[in-house]
Amino acid sequence: MSEKIQAPRGTFDVLGDDALARDRLVEVARGILEPAGYARIETPAFESTALFARGVGESTDIVQKEMYTFEAGEGESLTLRPEGTAPVCRAYIEHGMHKLPQPVKLWYLSSYFRRERPQKGRYRQFWQLGIEAIGSDDPAVDAEAIVLLSEILETLGARGLRLRLSSLGTPATRAEYRDRLVAHLRANEDRLSQEVRDRIELNPLRAFDADHPGTREVMASAPLLLDALDEEDLTHFEQVKAMLDGAGVVYEVDPTLVRGLDYYTRTLFEFTSDALGAQSGVAGGGRYDGLVELIGGPAVPGVGWAAGVERMLLASPPPPVAPPPVDLYVAYAKPELRADAFKLAADARRAGHAARLELAGRSLKGQLKQADRMDARYVAIFGEEGVSLKDMESGEQKIVEAETVMHHIRGAL
Ligand code: HAM
Repeated sequence: MSEKIQAPRGTFDVLGDDALARDRLVEVARGILEPAGYARIETPAFESTALFARGVGESTDIVQKEMYTFEAGEGESLTLRPEGTAPVCRAYIEHGMHKLPQPVKLWYLSSYFRRERPQKGRYRQFWQLGIEAIGSDDPAVDAEAIVLLSEILETLGARGLRLRLSSLGTPATRAEYRDRLVAHLRANEDRLSQEVRDRIELNPLRAFDADHPGTREVMASAPLLLDALDEEDLTHFEQVKAMLDGAGVVYEVDPTLVRGLDYYTRTLFEFTSDALGAQSGVAGGGRYDGLVELIGGPAVPGVGWAAGVERMLLASPPPPVAPPPVDLYVAYAKPELRADAFKLAADARRAGHAARLELAGRSLKGQLKQADRMDARYVAIFGEEGVSLKDMESGEQKIVEAETVMHHIRGAL
């Protein structure tokens, strides 16, 4: 035997009930997002490396160490998409969507790639369900996006959910705040972990994320961005909160909320689930008012979120998934009758019935067992004396003409 080849580390196959559960998740999402005006978008699996370097941010873990980047010849550098927001904004610009009525509301379900250390709930190829609403800074867009996400998670039955909410303000407020935070970190440098110390200039906000006890102590007295917001940003945040209150969405304001992407401005949020282990982030998102301009488009605002498909499924009870029903199983007593059986199965499918045919050369007894296993509603057996049609519900069996099988079953299905 040749050497066995396995799926790459951090990847997985989707089979059986898991595949059915994913289908249901997509149906739930579509049923909630499309009536709210979100249209499906698909973007390529890889993009110019510059899109993520600029869009997601040079200082982020994603860009620094998690991207699958490859040279594509003639000096072109491409990267397997690590996230969906920058690609959707790229598509918005490329298709002139700023000329459409705003905001443009898009949803996606695709796979993404990050070279992270694999563990439960963290993979190197994973799926995200996401939405982006581009072209309006109305706080109602933020609130609506969060309400839709919360509805999807609730419909799936996700357990132990917690929604944390914050606001980052505008880049100007953030820059000013950042200077104050860096000064605070510098003043307490000797108590910080080496990792935080090394990144004081690069990404001081990440210090709020640290588990290191000394760092946590220093952060307990750190200035908070929420206290530094200007009047307009504060009003925007108050309006988002008021609408969430009105919609009955429960959240906690967490001024230390940090997300691993640089493009966020104003509203920021994350759903976690305590039904998950260390990788508790189910979904996250926020507003990104500067991103479209940053990657070469007009100055238009945007807001959105993405939810990890595997994590949503891990946090939810398995849905009652039933295999698709079988209307008609076509069996035959001897190989010479296979062509007739084949024709009936094909005709039945064309007429809209879920029909199956014996495909593995089983004995007639084996075929009937197979029909039983599939829970077929009817079985048609091609035999010596014509076609015997059995109603598996009533047990009734009769000899019929092959051409009339469909007529016989139609009424009952
Ligand atoms: P993100 O927080 O990086 O945000 O990812 C969103 C979700 O994807 C996470 O909450 C998690 O459920 C899932 N996820 C991330 N990495 C992995 C992984 N390695 N394995 C399994 N699941 C993972 C974004 O990607 C932003 N684009 C969200 C956004 C959209 N913001 C605005 N619009």
